Amino acid sequence: MRAVVYSKTGDPDVLTLIDKAVAEPGPGQARIRVHRSGVNPTDWKSRRGSSAAAVVDPPQVPGQDGSGVVDAVGIGVDTALVGQRVWIWEAAYRRADGTTQEFAVVPASHVVRLPPDASFDLGACLGIPFLTAHRCLTVTEDGPSRLGPGALQDRVVLVAGGAGAVGNAAIQLARWSDATVISTVSSAAKAQAAVAAGADHVIDYRRQDVVTEIRRLVSGVNTIVEVSPSANAGIDAEVLARHGSVAMYADDGGGEMTVPVRSQMAPNSRWQFVLVYTAPKQAKAAAVDDVAAAVAAGAIRVGADAGLPLHHFPLEDAAAAHAAVESSIVGKVLIDVAPIEVVP
Ligand SMILES: NC(=O)c1ccc[n+]([C@@H]2O[C@H](COP(=O)([O-])OP(=O)(O)OC[C@H]3O[C@@H](n4cnc5c(N)ncnc54)[C@H](OP(=O)(O)O)[C@@H]3O)[C@@H](O)[C@H]2O)c1
Repeated sequence: MRAVVYSKTGDPDVLTLIDKAVAEPGPGQARIRVHRSGVNPTDWKSRRGSSAAAVVDPPQVPGQDGSGVVDAVGIGVDTALVGQRVWIWEAAYRRADGTTQEFAVVPASHVVRLPPDASFDLGACLGIPFLTAHRCLTVTEDGPSRLGPGALQDRVVLVAGGAGAVGNAAIQLARWSDATVISTVSSAAKAQAAVAAGADHVIDYRRQDVVTEIRRLVSGVNTIVEVSPSANAGIDAEVLARHGSVAMYADDGGGEMTVPVRSQMAPNSRWQFVLVYTAPKQAKAAAVDDVAAAVAAGAIRVGADAGLPLHHFPLEDAAAAHAAVESSIVGKVLIDVAPIEVVP
């Protein structure tokens, strides 16, 4: 089978297309004929590593997210899974066997059924962005630990950077849960994307005063899904409602932040760091279940109409796919491991 691997860290050109033997699934594992591999910033950050040209042994197949059809299962896994269309999450976390290959062997617990009307494209967009967004939306002290219709009724969510992949997922999940959603963006085009995702209100943080605009709209924000705490901590502190939380999932724009202590004591605000890989087990399981339920309900959309334009690359252009994500292309980068599907 064809697989993309890297055996040293570095630029996208360390990604190499090779011929590889198809592995057998071990106990508790499933083998998936991969149709799409979804590329996330975590994939290029891992590939780049902390120093260039560090040896990666065994060679790493990148790709946490993906979708495809289960083609074999190991001992202890329900054989009814074989032939099922699925999406995959965290295939390559502490494992060498990511989704950028024709057959990926992953823990069966990281495989979730994809309803017949949900495309492989959609399936490959779910893992990292939606599970991260779910965690961010469920860490607020007086808020819900599960999402779904009504869960965020009468609550306000602020999504910083609503045109990003995680931002898009946060908007979609928050709207599915009936929150009022405000999003910040940096351009008119990104404003359109956030509205297409479902944001009720959009603020251009380059042209408008975010605090003034939010105060005009609501009395306070219950949950902030934050991509750039270094840039936005001051704003977040000013708009948080009592018992509100700032869920920080990235250090885009800077690795340090300044938070005003006194003003954050009175509302008992919570500043919560989020890393999807190490989220508590129960929270991760809830996220997987809720995202699957949202997909089953037809509440999750991808593509330009949903504010998430899709950019397809063939397997042999995996390096270009990584470079596109690394240069912050707007939307979602997908690697077509198997030919483009025909959706009924
Ligand atoms: N902790 C975790 O578990 C986790 C999970 C997933 C992703 N991440 C990280 O999260 C980051 C985003 O991932 P992604 O896939 O969503 O990337 P993406 O699609 O490139 O989105 C990043 C978004 O952040 C916005 N942004 C940057 N600075 C901003 C600011 N000061 N205010 C408002 N928005 C701002 C960008 O828009 P503008 O530049 O136009 O503002 C862009 O829309 C990456 O660093 C990634 O590694 C972390």
